[in-house]
Amino acid sequence: MNGIAQLYFSGQVPPLPTVSESDLTERAPTDWANQLSTVCPTLHSFAQEARAVLLGTSGAAVLRELPCPADFDEHQTLIHAFYCAMLPDHTLVSANGSSPYWKVTDRGGTTFSLNNTYSPAHQDAVTHDPRVPIIGLAGIQAAARGGETFLVDANEAVERLESSKQGKEALEILANVPIPHLRHSAFGAAHRVLQPVLRNGHVLWRPDLIDWQSDVVSAEIRSALDLFARSLEELRRFEVRIEPGEILIWNQSRGLLHGRYAYYGSRLLLRAWFAPVE
Ligand SMILES: [Fe+2]
Repeated sequence: MNGIAQLYFSGQVPPLPTVSESDLTERAPTDWANQLSTVCPTLHSFAQEARAVLLGTSGAAVLRELPCPADFDEHQTLIHAFYCAMLPDHTLVSANGSSPYWKVTDRGGTTFSLNNTYSPAHQDAVTHDPRVPIIGLAGIQAAARGGETFLVDANEAVERLESSKQGKEALEILANVPIPHLRHSAFGAAHRVLQPVLRNGHVLWRPDLIDWQSDVVSAEIRSALDLFARSLEELRRFEVRIEPGEILIWNQSRGLLHGRYAYYGSRLLLRAWFAPVE
């Protein structure tokens, strides 16, 4: 990854008919896309520009100076219409089985999206089937201090490990040993998923879901996982503070991992997971 492409929108957007969160997905994405191309062709073409970057070589973009209505439902509707214009051939994957968007905010929870602590590089939805390649984080409210999101390219960590004997041995384990993960209860009944960290050229890394107490995680396997985690911490980071009216989108199936610095004060991001329509 050479960085996060930055795209700036300019233009006025007339208000769209606002719908509540539960009604957003009642209409097909192509309907929303068509509506946006009629109501606001400039925002529709900006969505095409963002799509080209996301699905092209870069794989990550921050979109700035988007309209930022004060009313939450209006803002969410606009974000939804924009996403549909950008990815009409994708579907929104719900994290909790109902809401299409997940509110990333500090609720004192144990998972990264529900607290304000430092979150190391990881991927979302690693235990989901089918896979969730694309993630969008839309800024609604930025923290008073901290909370920058960062992206790293895990392929760089793999390349580094390939250059040493110890690293090669670790990669062998990461590619071949099914690691027990505890699927979080927010995604349905809690259960264990066994999968290697490296699978078919893809990185699946969510360290906080690994069942570190499991007998499967022997000392040798633990040190391979620790070595990978340390390698990720040493990678160059591309940091973005997602302000209101901004969206960070990236393709995690390219090996892009994300994390977040600790923050203070209220912060709200709307997270979207996208999977291609089969
Ligand atoms: Fe995450």
